[in-house]
Amino acid sequence: MSRARVGILISGRGSNMVSLIEASRASDCPYEVALVLSDNPDAPGLERARALGVEARAIDRRLYGKDREPHERVIDQALRNAGVEYVALAGYMRILTPFLVGAWEGRMVNIHPSLLPKYPGLDTHRRALDAGDAEAGCTVHLVTNDLDCGPILGQARVPVLPGDDEHTLAERVLAEEHRLYPAALAKLVRGQI
Ligand code: GRF
Repeated sequence: MSRARVGILISGRGSNMVSLIEASRASDCPYEVALVLSDNPDAPGLERARALGVEARAIDRRLYGKDREPHERVIDQALRNAGVEYVALAGYMRILTPFLVGAWEGRMVNIHPSLLPKYPGLDTHRRALDAGDAEAGCTVHLVTNDLDCGPILGQARVPVLPGDDEHTLAERVLAEEHRLYPAALAKLVRGQI
């Protein structure tokens, strides 16, 4: 079986990246992780990827000035050089310009720690707690130019429990993120979405 080549963009710890790489080891997984890129050279996820045998490189955002597009052009070229066909954002903390979004339209996915369309943007768990929501969760969606608003590919829900704070809720949601993301990406690659 020929497997689709996936590139992952990270900025930090990379736990979702690890779940995508680990899931790709299953013999029936339709994708392989070809490359991990980070805009932050200090991202702990870079070492975690290398430890799992995946090529991982920093393309330091600070070297390209304030303009995001020149930085994205280097990222785009690195992905293409690696033969990447799908891109997964996994805690990538820079808002993309229409250049990179357009270049990967329909083939770039993101995971967001809320039940979209609720709580796009940051501080999702704080906002769910402040609103008194009974449940929280995560969403995998296609990336479009509207932040966290692209077509939804999958969601997972967890209860909000009495006494939850941002940390306990984030942990419960993160465990679901790690299951949802590989499954949603596999479905997209298989053309099931
Ligand atoms: C996750 O909560 C993800 O939903 C959000 O950023 C966080 C990244 O965590 N987009 P990690 O780097 O994958 O551990």
